[in-house]
Formats: sequence, structure tokens, C-alpha cells
Amino acid sequence: MVQATPLLLVLSLALGAHSLSPRKCNLTGTWKNDLGSNMTILPVDEKGNLAGLYNTSVADNSSKIHQSPLLGFQKLTNPIHQPTFGFTVNWTFSDSITVFTGQCFVDKHGKEVLKTTWLLRLHVNNIEDDWKATRIGTNVFTRLK
Ligand SMILES: *[C@@H]1O[C@H](CO)[C@@H](O)[C@H](O)[C@H]1NC(C)=O
Ligand SMILES: *[C@@H]1O[C@H](CO)[C@@H](O)[C@H](O)[C@H]1NC(C)=O
Ligand SMILES: *[C@@H]1O[C@H](CO)[C@@H](O)[C@H](O)[C@H]1NC(C)=O
Ligand SMILES: *[C@@H]1O[C@H](CO)[C@@H](O)[C@H](O)[C@H]1NC(C)=O
Ligand SMILES: *[C@@H]1O[C@H](CO)[C@@H](O)[C@H](O)[C@H]1NC(C)=O
Repeated sequence: MVQATPLLLVLSLALGAHSLSPRKCNLTGTWKNDLGSNMTILPVDEKGNLAGLYNTSVADNSSKIHQSPLLGFQKLTNPIHQPTFGFTVNWTFSDSITVFTGQCFVDKHGKEVLKTTWLLRLHVNNIEDDWKATRIGTNVFTRLK
């Protein structure tokens, strides 16, 4: 009995700490994806406006890569636990544009994860090449410590 009491105390503290931290996914911060690209999302404002910076690890010409701005929106549903979002990246080193859309989830291990799908629009010189100018892909982001 004397020995069981501290154990119960530790257990209740652990459970109490758990219930105090709601399972929420917050877009603000620095993220890395499955390709080794990183992005930083600045604090989202009260209307859901979202801005940040993207460091890609991949490009058709990787020696030209530069940090590029991103701009978009986050949905502010109440309560904001696992918000949907979308943003555009303006690649500063090419004529391409990428749009991302996704959702900020808390996975079964309690870890925040961004599941996204993107469209990359390449610049082509004439309308005959339009058919090959759009690429699609997916990326999974986790928080970069
Ligand atoms: C997300 O995190 C930022 C910075 O840590 C904080 O300012 C903001 O209030 C958080 N947003 C929500 C919805 O919890
Ligand atoms: C992104 O790149 C900039 C400039 O190269 C660098 O200063 C910054 O630390 C990088 N951020 C991340 C999260 O990789
Ligand atoms: C992303 O961040 C990691 C860790 O700081 C760094 O090693 C890597 O070079 C960064 N990648 C890019 C593309 O900035
Ligand atoms: C890639 O970018 C570098 C630096 O801007 C440039 O010198 C080189 O010619 C480019 N290569 C191609 C294949 O466009
Ligand atoms: C978007 O990228 C282009 C380079 O392609 C640059 O000239 C322009 O200033 C950028 N605009 C913004 C708002 O970042």
C-alpha cells in the first residue's frame, strides 16, 4: 500500500497531463517533407490568412534553387483541431508555380502531419505544349525540430 501510492500519483499525473493537451494540429512552424524540402509557416492570422517560406530540395535545375514565398489560407472551423488549408508557392528561381492543398492531422501516435497534394505548372512557350505543362504529386510533412 505504501509503495502503491506513488505509482498511482504518477499515473494520475500522466493522465491529467494528457487530457490537458488537446490533440490539435497547428500549421505555424517549420516542417520537412519526404523529399527533404522544408517550409516555415508564419503565425496564421485571425481570418485564416497564411504566409511562409519554402525551401525546396528538388528542381529541374537544382543549382538554381532559392528560398521562395508561399501564400494561402487555412480554414478556421471551430474547434480548429485538424484544419484544411491551401497555398501557392511562387518559385523565385523559375517561371513555375505550385499550388498545395491539404489537411493538418494528428496521427495515432499524437504526431502532427500534413497530408498534401500539389499541382506544379511549368511555363511552356505555346499552347500546343499545354498538355504537358502540369504535374501532380503528394507530399507528407512532419514538424522539423
Ligand atoms: C499555433 O501556434 C502559434 C505559435 O506557436 C500560436 O501563436 C497560435 O495561437 C497557435 N494556434 C492555435 C489555433 O492553437
Ligand atoms: C531555408 O533557406 C534559407 C536560405 O537559404 C535559410 O536561411 C533557412 O535556414 C532555411 N530554412 C529551413 C527551415 O531549411
Ligand atoms: C532542411 O532542414 C534540414 C535540417 O535543418 C537541413 O539539413 C536541410 O538541408 C534543409 N533542406 C533544405 C532544402 O533547405
Ligand atoms: C542551371 O542553373 C545554373 C545556375 O543558374 C546555370 O549556370 C546552368 O546553366 C543551369 N543549367 C541548365 C541546364 O539550365
Ligand atoms: C514571384 O517570383 C518572381 C520570380 O519568378 C519574382 O520576380 C516576384 O517578385 C515574386 N513575387 C512575389 C510576390 O513573391
